[in-house]
Amino acid sequence: MAVALSPLVLAAQKAVADALEVSPDLFVVGSPPNPAMGDLAVGCFPAAKALKAAPPALAAKVVERFEPTELLMSAKAAGPFVNFTVNSEALFKHLATIALDEEELIAKTPGDGKSICIDFSSPNISKQLAYHHIRSTVIGHALVNLYRALGYRVIGINHLGDWGTTHGMLLAAYHKWPPTEDLTIESLNALYVKFRDAMKTDESLEQEGRDWFAKLENGDEEARKLWQHFKDVSWAEFESAYEMLGIKFDEVRGESAYVEDMPGVIKMLDDKGLSSVSEGALVVMLEEDKMPPLLLRKNDGATLYGTRDLAAAMYREESYHPERSLYVVDRGQSLHFKQLFRTLEKAGFEWSSKCIHVPFGLVRVGGKKTTTRGGNVVLLKEVFSEARDRAAAKISENNPEWAPEQVESTAAIVGIGAVVFANLMSQRDKDVDFDWDDILSTSGDSGVYVQYGHARCCSILEKGGMSDIGTEADFSLLTQPQEKALALSLSQLGDVVAKAADHNDPHLLSRYLLEVVSDFSTWYTQGNQDKALRVICEDEPTRRARLTLVAITRAVLKEGLGILGVGAPDAM
Ligand code: ARG
Repeated sequence: MAVALSPLVLAAQKAVADALEVSPDLFVVGSPPNPAMGDLAVGCFPAAKALKAAPPALAAKVVERFEPTELLMSAKAAGPFVNFTVNSEALFKHLATIALDEEELIAKTPGDGKSICIDFSSPNISKQLAYHHIRSTVIGHALVNLYRALGYRVIGINHLGDWGTTHGMLLAAYHKWPPTEDLTIESLNALYVKFRDAMKTDESLEQEGRDWFAKLENGDEEARKLWQHFKDVSWAEFESAYEMLGIKFDEVRGESAYVEDMPGVIKMLDDKGLSSVSEGALVVMLEEDKMPPLLLRKNDGATLYGTRDLAAAMYREESYHPERSLYVVDRGQSLHFKQLFRTLEKAGFEWSSKCIHVPFGLVRVGGKKTTTRGGNVVLLKEVFSEARDRAAAKISENNPEWAPEQVESTAAIVGIGAVVFANLMSQRDKDVDFDWDDILSTSGDSGVYVQYGHARCCSILEKGGMSDIGTEADFSLLTQPQEKALALSLSQLGDVVAKAADHNDPHLLSRYLLEVVSDFSTWYTQGNQDKALRVICEDEPTRRARLTLVAITRAVLKEGLGILGVGAPDAM
């Protein structure tokens, strides 16, 4: 369980733990079924066994011993639960301080400088980025940001697929059909596809591909130079997508970086008696784990994806001693990672338990799975450009007075943000259905809805005409239940981030942001019915207090969206 960060949660845990004389982190803090019962609920079950008492008796004991704190006003027992009532004024003050004064909404204590390696995106070179690549890219990026927000030292790694027999085939294809124009990612991909097709009828081609790969592995100058060129062309293409998404890697270290380590890895496994020869190939048998063997070296001498992954894992451990080493790779590779981690474990590396495969489901566009080859390729850049066009149309409709450049720059943030958010909105391991109307909806479960909430906060603050919103408001004037409900939800940001990192699942944060916007709208739209409840009301001190709550909401939305890798325009 992630450590709690919210002072409310900590106070509630402490109240129960002190009264029962047990450890505070035994207790989970939730909300009572309805706000009339209180603001926070703590079940006494976890202590019942140790103390040999029934939970309702323990709840009664907590209430009896309860002494009000700055944040907790009162406690009531409800069966096995203790329900606490939060002191709103103290809560508003605390939120204003962290959001507007200290500008540190999330405490950096959990990470405490510990390292986390995150292998994400990691596409294969010489192929376009298809839409499904976005899953690893955006989930990985969000995880990088989640851990960083919590104070971890994160090493975001792009383990480029730049080695293997495919690259031999490509070299062979290049020599067979020398291109007359400058290479592009499209022409590279087309060359490869053409070669694969020709292989179906001409058996000699397979050998040609292998020969070229052998040349590459043996450091043949021509092969190396051309391969480097393929890599440069590919990287330029990938980089433009990363730039649009605001992604920078701390380490771009492809499979080729581990080629020299191969003999050492193979020797190490041999010395430990873990490798054996099977049908001419060198393998690690994993029979007792009911898994097929992990292939180390093919009968033609070429090393494999798995061998390079073994070397990469060892490199990461040696270089960073990570607390966790994550691999954000589609679930189709689950077996590969099980074999990899088990092999490391068998080799006696205790740190193998820190290696975690973070799998994710597929993307379906129009009900169909997207693939790089085969007819149904949906290219990432096409999706981005359509997203921008669609967003631009909506934005210029909403803001007819805007200059074209403003429409365009905002549309880039909204369009791309919508695609990113759509990928982070459902549970990571679920498949995602991609539908344009859903992802750009301003009212439903979409990134646009959250961005719109943020932009609305910006416009209210501007209209409110108080430039010096800070911690100096009279929060006793925020007496509406909706204001307290909003503050309670705003106070959860840090804990939601900690939980999302703990589960390696950014969707928890996406869902939370949708809730915050919905709580905000509930509060804000009251003013449509009752003038006295408007944020921008006549009474100045009340207006100041309400605007402060808007400013806190804006800060939380911006921070949360930023962690997901989604921009937050001030107007849209
Ligand atoms: N290049 C691989 C692919 O496109 C993903 C690599 C993931 N990372 C790793 N260390 N195996 O399928």
